[in-house]
Amino acid sequence: MSPAIAELVPEYIRAFEAYTPSRPDPVLMRQYGVDHLHRLNNNENALGPPPAARKVIEAFQCDRSAIYPSGDCYALRLALAERFGKDPERFLVGNGSCEVIASVIKAFCEKGDNIITADKTFAVYEWVAEFSGFEARLIPLKDWGFDPDAMLAAMDSRTKILFVCNPNNPTGTWWDRDTMERFLRGVAGRALVVIDEAYCEYVEDDRFPDAMELMERHPNVVAFRTFSKMYALAGLRVGYVCGQREAIDYIRRTHIVYSVNSMGQPAAAAALSDDAEHILATRRMVADAKALLLPAFDELGLHYVSNEGNFIMVETPASDSLIYRQLMRRGIMVRTMTGFRFPNWIRVSLVQEPVMRDFLTAFRDVIAVVAGGAS
Ligand SMILES: Cc1ncc(COP(=O)(O)O)c(C=O)c1O
Repeated sequence: MSPAIAELVPEYIRAFEAYTPSRPDPVLMRQYGVDHLHRLNNNENALGPPPAARKVIEAFQCDRSAIYPSGDCYALRLALAERFGKDPERFLVGNGSCEVIASVIKAFCEKGDNIITADKTFAVYEWVAEFSGFEARLIPLKDWGFDPDAMLAAMDSRTKILFVCNPNNPTGTWWDRDTMERFLRGVAGRALVVIDEAYCEYVEDDRFPDAMELMERHPNVVAFRTFSKMYALAGLRVGYVCGQREAIDYIRRTHIVYSVNSMGQPAAAAALSDDAEHILATRRMVADAKALLLPAFDELGLHYVSNEGNFIMVETPASDSLIYRQLMRRGIMVRTMTGFRFPNWIRVSLVQEPVMRDFLTAFRDVIAVVAGGAS
C-alpha cells in the first residue's frame, strides 16, 4: 500500500489485523493430499437443514435470482413474530447475525464509547468495535464462563453495549436465570445488553434463561439468534436481532436493507415451521458424540471443556497449529484456538458417530506422532 493511501486510513484500521478465513475445501484437500475432509471447525450442523427448508431450497427457481429479495425480510419476520408471539416490527434480520452485530454497534456507539464482553468468546463483537474505532473492554473468563461482577465493575458512563454470549462459544458455559437477572439488575438500564443465543437451541436445562422472555421485563435487552447453527443454514447467511420496538427502530437505521437473499429468507421461515424433530435429532447426535469423545479424552489424559453447544474444546500436548496440520493430513479439519486466546487448544464440532470415530482414530494417531517428536 502506498504511503498516501495509508495516510487516508484511520489509525484504528491500520492497527487492525484482518481475519483470514480458511481456503475452500477442494484447495485444502489438494494442499494436504487427501480425498475427503470432515469439517469439524465451524460448529456447523452436519445433519443439514430440516426437511421443509430442504424443499424450499430445492424448489428455488433460477429466474428468481434476477429479482431483489424482500428488503426487510417481510415474510420471515411474520414467521418469527408468530413463533415468538411478538410484533414483526421487533425483528430485524441480517446476513447472518454477524451483520446484526455491526448494525447494533453502529446504532449505539459514538467516538469515545466502549463495549464490554469477555476476552475468550465469539470475537466478532470485539472486532467490529475495534475496527469501528471503539474500545472493546475484554473481561477475563472466570471458571470458563462470563464473569458478571467483573463486567459490571468495568462499566462506566461511556459503556453502551454489554455482549453476553449465552452459551459461550467456545467454552459452552452459560448463565442461569438467577445469574442473568442479577446481572441485568446490576446494569440497571444504563447500557444495552446483547444476549447472543446462537446456540440456545442446544440447551435442554430448564434453568437456562430465554432472552425472548427477559426482554419483556428489561427493555435494554436484545437477543441475537441465527439460522446457521441448529437450523443448518450457515451457507445462506440468516440471523436476526429481536428486542423492544424502540431499540430495534434505532438499529434498523444503520442496517443495510436487501442484505438477506431470496433463498435464505423462505428457507429460514420453512426451517422454523419444521424444527421439532430436527432439534431432537440434532441434540441426540451431539449427546452421542460427547459420549464417545469424553471417555476417549479421559483415556488420553487430556483436559477438555464440555458444556452446552455442538462443540468441545480439548487441550493438545503440542502446538494447536501442528495438531491441525497433522489432522488435515488425515482428512480432519478442526479449529485451532490460539486465535481465541486459548493457546494449544483445539475446538471440535460434534457430529455423527462415524465421523467422530474417524476423528478419534486420527487424533490418537496424531497424539502418538507428536509424542514421538514429529513436526
Ligand atoms: C456465538 C456466535 N454468535 C454469532 C455467530 C454468527 O452466526 P451467523 O452465521 O448468523 O453470522 C456465531 C458463529 O459462529 C457464533 O458462534
